[in-house]
Amino acid sequence: MPQTAPQTSPRLPKGLANVVAIKPYVPGKPIEDVAREFGLTEIHKLASNESPYGPPPPAMAAYKKIADDLWIYPDNDAFRLTRKVADIHGVQPNQIIFGTGSSHLLELAARAFAGAGDEVVFPEHGFICYALFTQAAGATAVRVAEKNLTADVDGLLAAITPKTRVLFLANPNNPTGTMLDEEALRHLLDNVPSNVLVVLDEAYADYALIEGGVDGTELVHEYRNLLVTRTFSKAYALAALRIGYAIGSEEVVSILKRLRPPFSVSTPALVAAEAAIGDAAFISDVVRKNKVERDRMAKAYDALGVLACPSYCNFVLLDLAVTGKDPSELFVALQKQGIIVRPVKEYGLNTHLRVSIGLPTENDKVLAAIRSLL
Ligand SMILES: Cc1ncc(COP(=O)(O)O)c(C=O)c1O
Repeated sequence: MPQTAPQTSPRLPKGLANVVAIKPYVPGKPIEDVAREFGLTEIHKLASNESPYGPPPPAMAAYKKIADDLWIYPDNDAFRLTRKVADIHGVQPNQIIFGTGSSHLLELAARAFAGAGDEVVFPEHGFICYALFTQAAGATAVRVAEKNLTADVDGLLAAITPKTRVLFLANPNNPTGTMLDEEALRHLLDNVPSNVLVVLDEAYADYALIEGGVDGTELVHEYRNLLVTRTFSKAYALAALRIGYAIGSEEVVSILKRLRPPFSVSTPALVAAEAAIGDAAFISDVVRKNKVERDRMAKAYDALGVLACPSYCNFVLLDLAVTGKDPSELFVALQKQGIIVRPVKEYGLNTHLRVSIGLPTENDKVLAAIRSLL
């Protein structure tokens, strides 16, 4: 009889023992789940900040056209798309990296620049992935208190220690929807030590730019420790394809490229993104429609006595505290009416719900449903 070694579990490396404590990302509840649980056919998902206007038509055409070529590996260097993005932002092609969604690039940044014994700083209500990716890198998360649900630059600066390697900041931020102006952002960048990587997450920049939001990609020329991420998942409505990009210094980008698995971004994603980014008029229209609806909804929520946090995104964060309603109960009650929103307790926002901005008819339904439940 051959001797068998006693069974042991695969061991994590020393610096990564903490990953067992990671609470997996909780996505917006899928439409199919709600349909099954409540026996509904008409459901409106306003839980993941997806764009209800869909992608630009040329992106869908490009996606369908590529169906005949699925046997060919993607262009690992994203030659054509890289040049388009470089032209748009006025940067060199070697300052750009694509990933499977911008979250891929956030994860790469954390893994590349922070490890066991290092600290990663971000605002208290910063996008949840910052905490996940910090833990996954074996580093320690340092959460910094916000002011009025907005990142506090001086607080962030004060939290930086010799152990700090990365600082994450979403501008505007999810789930709060708030943003910093150029003066505040420059104050941060001027005072962060140059050996700390500042990852400026601009997933919602398309929505914020028409409100006078700062375009972080213009600042990469001035700050070599700045990495700006953008996504095709939100205003471009290509969330299912998983494609985003980061712009930074050639040095930082070249490190991320070394860590990214080959052929990460699929050809359907590349061609659809290329077509989408060429349809600026479509995106401007989406962003304008979103603003009209978001401002209308913010007023309507105020009239209901529900506090809507000022948002520069395609969602609003509602504070139900004054209504005395429990967000978890409202979340379930809304599902019974065919509406999926997002509780945000994992952000420490215990009296809040986040509601994406949908089509006008969907927004009317949400409003009527919330009104009926208050
Ligand atoms: C602030 C923020 N950053 C990044 C992302 C990641 O988006 P994706 O990986 O689809 O590009 C999201 C998605 O919700 C987000 O809200």
